[in-house]
Amino acid sequence: MLLIVEGGSSMSKSGLKKIGVIGVGTMGNGIAQVAAQSGFETIIMDVDASILERGVGTIARSLDRLVKAFEKSGGEKGITGEAKEEALGRLATTNNLGDLLDCDLIIEAVPEKPELKEKINRQLAELGYEKILCSNTSGISITRLGAAYGKPELFMGMHFMNPVPMQKGVEIIRGLGTSNTTYDTVVALCHDMDKIEIPAEDKAGFAINRMFVPFVNEAVRVVEEGIAGVEDVDKCTYCLGHKMGPLMTADYVGLDTMLFICEVLEEEFGSSYKPSPLLKRLVESGQLGAKTGTGFYSWENYKAAGVNPDVARYRIK
Ligand SMILES: NC(=O)c1ccc[n+]([C@@H]2O[C@H](COP(=O)([O-])OP(=O)(O)OC[C@H]3O[C@@H](n4cnc5c(N)ncnc54)[C@H](O)[C@@H]3O)[C@@H](O)[C@H]2O)c1
Repeated sequence: MLLIVEGGSSMSKSGLKKIGVIGVGTMGNGIAQVAAQSGFETIIMDVDASILERGVGTIARSLDRLVKAFEKSGGEKGITGEAKEEALGRLATTNNLGDLLDCDLIIEAVPEKPELKEKINRQLAELGYEKILCSNTSGISITRLGAAYGKPELFMGMHFMNPVPMQKGVEIIRGLGTSNTTYDTVVALCHDMDKIEIPAEDKAGFAINRMFVPFVNEAVRVVEEGIAGVEDVDKCTYCLGHKMGPLMTADYVGLDTMLFICEVLEEEFGSSYKPSPLLKRLVESGQLGAKTGTGFYSWENYKAAGVNPDVARYRIK
């Protein structure tokens, strides 16, 4: 059974009308863009006006690229200029969590810090929000975050992939108490957003990061043991049919997020998931990948410009 919201768009399979997105960073701006493009009234909440302005700017530029793709492909790809303006017209911003209370569903995409996510969930409950709340967490227990909300039946993981407007898959994770109604509504929302749901259980790393993060961690070990260099490690995976190597992907995702998930996996499954020293050193030095300008690669405007020299010389016997 789906949760039907009165006044919901007739096109909407989920019956939802208004979506809230908390955090307009790497993931939040993509989620908000896709929600607005899919016809949902969308409100974005972040900590201050300059971050919100930057986030909306990123969304506008991403929509511009889709309009250019439409023109270049003779209408086969992308969106029309009119669709872009309509999507932007559905977006609102706020730095006040209280402005999200009339949303039918909220997706939280703040940094991967359990206490911060728990605090936001508790605040929403205290303010009187009582509809579906989803987290875009990459690895924190959905059951733990649902307990902080106090309404586990209305809580779920919705793990979008980066970059959200391009990647079709969304891992959807039920906590121990998530209701069937919430689950069905979130599946329908994935379809409304033209996404493909990938159901996974609430175990460390869920499905995707349970596979991907140990793969990245092993790639880092190959580099630090001097078995192969950064670019060659990434080239190896092209032979497997991957479009992007593990180290470049890790730089895009953020090395702080990678390290955090490694630690979650180690805590739940044991020492074979221990983070590699080089990954820890990079995070300790604030080199978090594309977003800070250096990681395994050096970055200029989110474009890789050669291997980070610090990484090229780092070796462990
Ligand atoms: N980066 C990725 O590729 C990726 C992929 C899948 C999932 N995730 C997950 O998505 C979530 C967000 O990651 P990200 O990479 O977008 O992070 P980010 O650091 O790029 O963005 C986080 C945003 O949250 C905002 N924020 C911080 N505290 C806030 C608060 N109290 N209230 C409102 N906003 C607040 C920040 O200002 C920032 O704009 C994390 O849980 C992460 O694990 C990330």
